[in-house]
Amino acid sequence: MANKQVGILISGRGSNMSALIAAASAADFPADIRLVVSNRPHAGGLAKAAEAGIATAVVDHKDYPSREAFDKAVTAKLEEAGVEFVCLAGFMRLLTPWFVERWRDRLINIHPSLLPSFKGLDTHERALEAGVKVHGCSVHFVRSDVDSGPIIAQAAVAVLDEDDADSLATRVLEQEHVIYPLALRLVASGRVRVIDERVEIGGAGDAPPALVVPAV
Ligand code: GRF
Repeated sequence: MANKQVGILISGRGSNMSALIAAASAADFPADIRLVVSNRPHAGGLAKAAEAGIATAVVDHKDYPSREAFDKAVTAKLEEAGVEFVCLAGFMRLLTPWFVERWRDRLINIHPSLLPSFKGLDTHERALEAGVKVHGCSVHFVRSDVDSGPIIAQAAVAVLDEDDADSLATRVLEQEHVIYPLALRLVASGRVRVIDERVEIGGAGDAPPALVVPAV
């Protein structure tokens, strides 16, 4: 099977983007990163992508009169570059239903919580406030409702008594960098099927869809 041609959308520092680029540089990885697009001209991830030899583009949302016009411009950039599959990696714009449908089942996101808990922003603060003992991250297909859609992979991290939002975010981020490449590998190798809005993972291989990271 030919490698999937992937575009990554970012808005910021791009550490998940870097994890995907690093994974995709392995000879046996079933996807190629074709293009990184940022909606912010000064996103730190742009320089990191360029350093890694990946083509970059800026589509500044401020240059477009509506969300849909912006989403169409992003889609045009992706398609020009031959992208057939999109990863959101710290992309901080809400996408229109038009975009979500255009890329249906070819669009995945990483979110720093164990979905469906703690959708939206400030997930680590809210996890601490709620007193949960287990927190984590999820990679999921994107649907129109924010942070919803069939879940591909999750990693659980123990919440420690001494945690603050930063320490918890740091441990969750480490796991984001593990499960995002894992999820892309699963999807790009054709092992992931969405059935009744749930993900089924078929075929042989040693990639588990869920990781539990023991407390240190
Ligand atoms: C990550 O925590 C990601 O889960 C969330 O935004 C953050 C982006 O970080 N959606 P980075 O830009 O990948 O470093």
